[in-house]
Amino acid sequence: MVSFGGWVRTVRQGKGVGFVEVNDGSCFSSLQVVVEPESPSFALLDGIATGASVWVTGTIVDSPGKGQKYEVRAESLEVVGPAPEDYPLQKKRHSFEYLREIAHLRPRTNTFGAVLRIRNILARTVHDFFQSRGFLYVQTPIITTSDCEGAGEMFGITVRSEPEPADQGAEREPGEFFGKPAGLTVSGQLEAEAVCSALGDVYTFGPTFRAENSNTSRHLSEFWMVEPEMAFADIHDDMDLAEDFLRHLIRQVLEEGADDMAFFDQWVDKGLVDRLRGVLDSSFQRISYTEAIERLQASGKSFEFPLTWGLDLQSEHERFLTEELLRGPVIVTDYPRVIKPFYMKQNEDGRTVRAMDVLVPGVGEIMGGSQREDNLERLERGIEHLGLDKASYWWYLDLRRYGSVPHAGFGLGFERAVQYITGMQNIRDVIPFPRTPRHAEF
Ligand code: 4AD
Ligand code: MG
Repeated sequence: MVSFGGWVRTVRQGKGVGFVEVNDGSCFSSLQVVVEPESPSFALLDGIATGASVWVTGTIVDSPGKGQKYEVRAESLEVVGPAPEDYPLQKKRHSFEYLREIAHLRPRTNTFGAVLRIRNILARTVHDFFQSRGFLYVQTPIITTSDCEGAGEMFGITVRSEPEPADQGAEREPGEFFGKPAGLTVSGQLEAEAVCSALGDVYTFGPTFRAENSNTSRHLSEFWMVEPEMAFADIHDDMDLAEDFLRHLIRQVLEEGADDMAFFDQWVDKGLVDRLRGVLDSSFQRISYTEAIERLQASGKSFEFPLTWGLDLQSEHERFLTEELLRGPVIVTDYPRVIKPFYMKQNEDGRTVRAMDVLVPGVGEIMGGSQREDNLERLERGIEHLGLDKASYWWYLDLRRYGSVPHAGFGLGFERAVQYITGMQNIRDVIPFPRTPRHAEF
């Protein structure tokens, strides 16, 4: 005898027997519950509709029907919460755009159930991977006063009410709770570096926020990032780690999430599983930014955005490189100094930095990282050069003043990883409740 609760996907009657498909979210498949005419629950069938929650007690038996190995012969079937006819998820295919408008109900669909289970495997695997390699998990602040990427994309934090009377005369501007402008972090890297400079290899895994007004299928205003930081390490160690990490995530999902991945392979992105398997068997190609520009120029392809040494690669360039020219994941290194943040280690040529971006088909940039500038004077000059306020980075500079070491790290955009591995087209469909410009319902 088994007892379980779940949500009704479909109800039908055939040859006087009732069939109720119940899904409890634990896996892709629903369980067929058979209600015989003799059962006291048979009379209830008319009141059971798609979307209702039910509690089932019965026996698992071999299923004579097609499509499932087992079914449950119901002893009793109890409606816990009915669903009236206006239930928004009737049995038909809904567009992803429509489902975004009912993000509170879309976890009940096949696609989102699968996305959220794969996301869960990935989140756990992030920790497994780094923990098994001796990395320490460090929690970096969400509220910060330093703009890590220096791109001016921070959401500011203010208080709505004026300070309490007792605070008046205290040294702070009205509305500046922290005494100076503060915001939501764009990255935990700078704080991770501080801990790395004491405890060795560390990683963060948390939410980050960016006020960039990008309405694309790859940008969110709130997204999760995984940021490892390695001490006594250079750009080559960084690339090796990035590659091992991404492969490990893929391997684990293919192993543990086979049913959900078969669904994505069939309905969302044909050939996905074979393509991911291919990634497991080959190493990522590595080329410099300068070579990438040359290869793209030589391809003869015309792009919307200019392709000039010194300008950042746009998504169309990245995707052409990884999807058409090199046909697989690629690591692009040594970008021009002027388009990268202040903390990256400068190369001897004076024009480029030890940056590395990992690009993958279908998504483009999935990870961005670098070896960090560990020389105090050079770092100071870099900050000044970009017109940033050196004083506010005093503590970050201290890390170079006292016991500086070569170190390197990267950030993996967690949603972009889920996108890549599930083949989902839009990043808004791989996070339960997406935040994008003008959208923060739910
Ligand atoms: O390349 P980014 O800006 O690098 C950093 O933030 C570094 N501090 C990381 C580090 O070295 N520790 O961001 C890292 C990754 C990108 O490669 C991309 O996958 C993702 O974060 N990302 C976004 N994902 C969703 N929405 C956005 N608006 C994103 N911006 C960046
Ligand atoms: Mg980047």
